[in-house]
Amino acid sequence: MISLNVNGKTMTVDVEPDTPLLWVVRENLGLTGTKFGCGIAQCGACTMLINGQATRTCVFPVSAAEGLDITTIEGLSEANDHPVQQAWQELEVPQCGYCQSGQILSAVSLLSQNPNPSDEDINIQMMNICRCGTYPRIRKAVHRASELWNNAAANLETKGANV
Ligand code: FES
Ligand code: FES
Repeated sequence: MISLNVNGKTMTVDVEPDTPLLWVVRENLGLTGTKFGCGIAQCGACTMLINGQATRTCVFPVSAAEGLDITTIEGLSEANDHPVQQAWQELEVPQCGYCQSGQILSAVSLLSQNPNPSDEDINIQMMNICRCGTYPRIRKAVHRASELWNNAAANLETKGANV
C-alpha cells in the first residue's frame, strides 16, 4: 500500500511502486483533470505540482511521491479562482483545453519562484506543448496572473498590517 497526500488529503492506493503517478491519480483516485499526452516527459500534459514544483508525472513513479505534497488542477483552488485560473479565464486561453491543466500548473510553479517573469523567462520556463498554439495567450495570461497574484499578496500584507 502506498500513502499519498493529494490536494491536502491523505489517500492510500494498492498499486505497483513503479506505476507512474499520472496513472494512479487518474485511474485509482479518479482525478482526471490531469491529462496523458506523450508518456515520455516531452509534452507536459501530465504536469502536477509536487512540493510546489511542476513535475511531469507520466514518468514519476508513485513510490517516489510518498510523503510529498501533490497538487492537481482539481486542488489548486476551491472555486477555480486562483490568480492563474482567473487570468486564464479572463484572457480565454484554452482552445481545445487538453493541455491547459498542465499549462496552468506550470504557470503556478513559475510564478511561485519568479513573481514578475519577463517574456523570456516565460518562454524558457513554460515548455509544455500546446497543439492548438495558444502560446501568445498563455504568455499574456502569465503576465496577468502575475499582476493578480502580486495584488492579492499586497492586499494580504495590508490587511495584516491593519490587524
Ligand atoms: S504525458 Fe507526461 S510529458 Fe507528455
Ligand atoms: S488548448 Fe488544445 S492542446 Fe492546448
